Amino acid sequence: MFGIFKKKQEDVFEQLDTNNLPVHIGIIMDGNGRWAKKRGLPRSAGHTMGAKVLEQITRDAGHLGIKYLTVYAFSTENWSRPAEEVKALMKLMVEYLDDYRRLIGDEDICVRIIGSKEGLSEEILEKIKIVEDATKNNSAITLNIALNYGGRDEIVKSVKKIAEGVKDGSISVDEIDEKMISDNLYTNYMPDPDFIIRPSGEQRLSNFLLWQSAYSEFWYSDINWPDFTKKDLIRAIVDYQKRNRRFGGV
Ligand code: FPP
Repeated sequence: MFGIFKKKQEDVFEQLDTNNLPVHIGIIMDGNGRWAKKRGLPRSAGHTMGAKVLEQITRDAGHLGIKYLTVYAFSTENWSRPAEEVKALMKLMVEYLDDYRRLIGDEDICVRIIGSKEGLSEEILEKIKIVEDATKNNSAITLNIALNYGGRDEIVKSVKKIAEGVKDGSISVDEIDEKMISDNLYTNYMPDPDFIIRPSGEQRLSNFLLWQSAYSEFWYSDINWPDFTKKDLIRAIVDYQKRNRRFGGV
């Protein structure tokens, strides 16, 4: 019996095709609050555990050969959460960025933060600069942390930048195309996500990478983010590898 179970566990690793990996994976790190509630802990404990899991999954993804990992850490809509929770999340973010050496260790991880800078404290802005600068030459995997990020807000900002160009005469209306909009998004230095993972049972995009996910494959699961493991990541990727991506063609 145990033998069969063990074999099944190993299978998922054996099924992985390392020559057909998604280049860019997005993760909506959901279910932290439910994870904490189940254990009688404050929601902030779920976020703390979620941050630890992110650390491990980033390393795992890098070792597997994933080039870009974009995670949703705080949305432009999350400001409406109770003040205490927002405060705890911002504190966690400062600690996390401050202790980025623990996150990257001797791994070749480049850390970038995407999202609006409006409303972020001077302290966070300073930490962002430090971590981005310190890791900018690392290249095995880029971890993009979406902080104060909203997909619609990002598109509006892109359109406004282009409109400024039209106004000052540097861009003609005929020149505006999809590439120009993409080039003016926060994500302009990376390919669109091939694969988006959302744990915790919800099946929605919640304003995450709206423009970029036009042809992304999606994977949902009931696992809360703080329980997410390398095996779950591999299981998800194996599932992705069974999909037939057609990008609107046949
Ligand atoms: C959604 O779960 C999660 C968030 C809004 C925050 C995600 C943040 C982290 C995983 C940790 C912080 C990351 C960094 C980079 C330090 P939820 O709170 O909505 O959970 P629920 O749906 O179960 O209530």
